[in-house]
Amino acid sequence: MSTRIPLPYSPKVLKYFRNPKNMGAMKNPSVVSTAGSPACGDMIRLYLRINNVNGVDVIEDITFESYGCAANIAAASILTELVKGRTLKDAWNVTWRQISDALGGLPAIKYHCSILAVGALKRAIRAYYKDRIKPEWLPKELSVEEKQTMEEEAILEKIYGIRASSDDQGK
Ligand code: FES
Repeated sequence: MSTRIPLPYSPKVLKYFRNPKNMGAMKNPSVVSTAGSPACGDMIRLYLRINNVNGVDVIEDITFESYGCAANIAAASILTELVKGRTLKDAWNVTWRQISDALGGLPAIKYHCSILAVGALKRAIRAYYKDRIKPEWLPKELSVEEKQTMEEEAILEKIYGIRASSDDQGK
């Protein structure tokens, strides 16, 4: 008999875990970003297609791949729904707490799953502007999610001796 206690996931987390939206790689994305480490399975990769509409950069499409837990999949999935069709500026302002709230609240031990998702999104946005003129709303300082994602990756690297993925690319 298993002695493991099931995590108190909300019905919404379970719904998105069982039936994730926007999952899978994208052909010809404008930008790809990864957060986490494949070494331990906690990883999210985002693919964004971005279009400039009347001088404003808009997320025309976004998909994800996840190699993580149920909360990781649910967080990435609902993130893609929340930012699809929105401007990059709006998407930049999405926080890990909003993702958790949108899922009906993640258990505290699973907060980092939504932090990874938002960390990947912010990386994608930075990668997109890497060789472009940076908009005034894009801060130089790292956000909470970016800092925590980097800290987590550093720990994973120490434990597993494998560098976290840093293949973020924009075009
Ligand atoms: Fe690490 Fe969910 S992504 S436990």
